[in-house]
Amino acid sequence: MSNLLQIKNIRKTFPGVVALDTISLSIARGEIHTLLGENGAGKSTLMNVLTGLYRPDRGEILLDGVSIQLNSPRDSLAMGIGMVHQHFMLVSAHTVFENILLALEGVPNFYSRRTYRQKVQKVLDAFELDLDLDSPVWKLSIGAQQWIELIKLLVRDCRLLILDEPTAVLTPQESARLFQVLTRLRDQGKSILFISHKMREVMEISDRVTVLKKGRSLVSLSRGEYDESRLASLMIGEDQIPMWIKPACKYEQLALEIKNLSARNDRGLADLDNFNMKLYRGQILGVAGVAGNGQKALAEVLTGLKEASSGRILAEGRDITNSTARSSYIAGIAHIPEDRKSIGIAPDMTVGDNLIMKNFASRAFRRWIFQDRAAIRRNASAKINEFAIKAGPDGNPVRYLSGGNIQKVIIARELSEKPAVLVALYPTRGLDIGSAEYVHKVIIDGANQGMSTILISEDLDELLKLSDQIVVMFRGRLVGCVDPQATTREEIGLLMSGEVQS
Ligand SMILES: Nc1ncnc2c1ncn2[C@@H]1O[C@H](COP(=O)(O)OP(=O)(O)OP(=O)(O)O)[C@@H](O)[C@H]1O
Ligand SMILES: [Mg+2]
Repeated sequence: MSNLLQIKNIRKTFPGVVALDTISLSIARGEIHTLLGENGAGKSTLMNVLTGLYRPDRGEILLDGVSIQLNSPRDSLAMGIGMVHQHFMLVSAHTVFENILLALEGVPNFYSRRTYRQKVQKVLDAFELDLDLDSPVWKLSIGAQQWIELIKLLVRDCRLLILDEPTAVLTPQESARLFQVLTRLRDQGKSILFISHKMREVMEISDRVTVLKKGRSLVSLSRGEYDESRLASLMIGEDQIPMWIKPACKYEQLALEIKNLSARNDRGLADLDNFNMKLYRGQILGVAGVAGNGQKALAEVLTGLKEASSGRILAEGRDITNSTARSSYIAGIAHIPEDRKSIGIAPDMTVGDNLIMKNFASRAFRRWIFQDRAAIRRNASAKINEFAIKAGPDGNPVRYLSGGNIQKVIIARELSEKPAVLVALYPTRGLDIGSAEYVHKVIIDGANQGMSTILISEDLDELLKLSDQIVVMFRGRLVGCVDPQATTREEIGLLMSGEVQS
């Protein structure tokens, strides 16, 4: 197989941080090449170098054996290198087709518009994608928006497609569809650079895997040369994976009761439809379901980000549906890509300030009317240590952190409040294996101390491992309740599809 792209000894530093130390790897024509590495290993930074967003301090990039300079995303695109970003760059008031047009060079006139429309339709047909070109982007699911980003690159006929954690925002079904398309593109000779933390996926789709650690490329292995445990041990090295033992829930004291809760979305449709649920003290209640079936609304109504249209939330018998006391009783964490804003990270503020955002008025961080900067710094360094956050130099704003590390900041902050109830919405999406295990340990430790958790996840392995009980959501309703010890992945899958009820 001949190489399309060669990366040689790339180095990239930011003030106080060596993001890429020395990276070398090559990407062949017609291969799916996966980058694997812990949060903060440098994966996204490397992608940004390849798409011309960052200029490396040192090193060389060769395309077809010729050394190239990438000074802007435009340069990269001109050379056939395109990227589907973690945070989409779409104009939401425009239609799908208009957004695709915007990606093309120059403003197309009426006639070329028609030609382009045919071209786009051909791409859609070729991959059997069902996407309404005239629908405004804001109406589409995150998954559909990601398709637009990919189609933009296909219409431009890119040779190297870069996807940074595309499946973090996709349902298992959507991911399977994406993999079919990527495999076909690979068979047509395209090169694909793929990032994911989900081992199951990495094993399924990769032709080759390069492991990054602390800004270095350790090794590139072809299919057949690796298995899951080899990759995990390369990635994690000597780092310890935390161990934990899960207590059994006693089902004695009711922590939270949700009665006939309904909520509507922006489009007036029911997100939550007469939802009922009981949560006991110390219980970990798993909520399974295909994303988009009301899970997000449930988390938002519980944490006070969204209003219920009817129904009640009772905490230890007390009605807290619209009470301001709710936020000190129920805390929430959510995965980042979709929810960075609603969950209240202030990207330009420092890690330390973000960590105390919920209790900035507290005595612990004040001196008379002033902020106690020393206390805030002490708290930050304790949390950074405890959660192994790669936070960069002191005073670093949160937006400079890698995706997984921002996630850890949110988790550390929400749990420092010692809430009675934790609502965790896809809490480990985007986290590396070690960090995901750590979050699991934190939830279990909380349960040991009486914290109750509503764990909303699509990852059945995660749900089966942690939950005392698993309920299944479908179209805003609870359609089933199973015992993790006595169920199968298939049974839960059927409930998730809405075809049966238990
Ligand atoms: N613009 C920036 N300014 C300062 N530091 C940065 C910047 N971009 C990245 N970094 C730092 O570079 C390191 C690598 O970050 P990067 O985003 O590449 O990690 P990653 O491998 O993509 O991790 P994740 O799996 O969490 O997404 C991190 O320590 C991060 O804080
Ligand atoms: Mg990243």
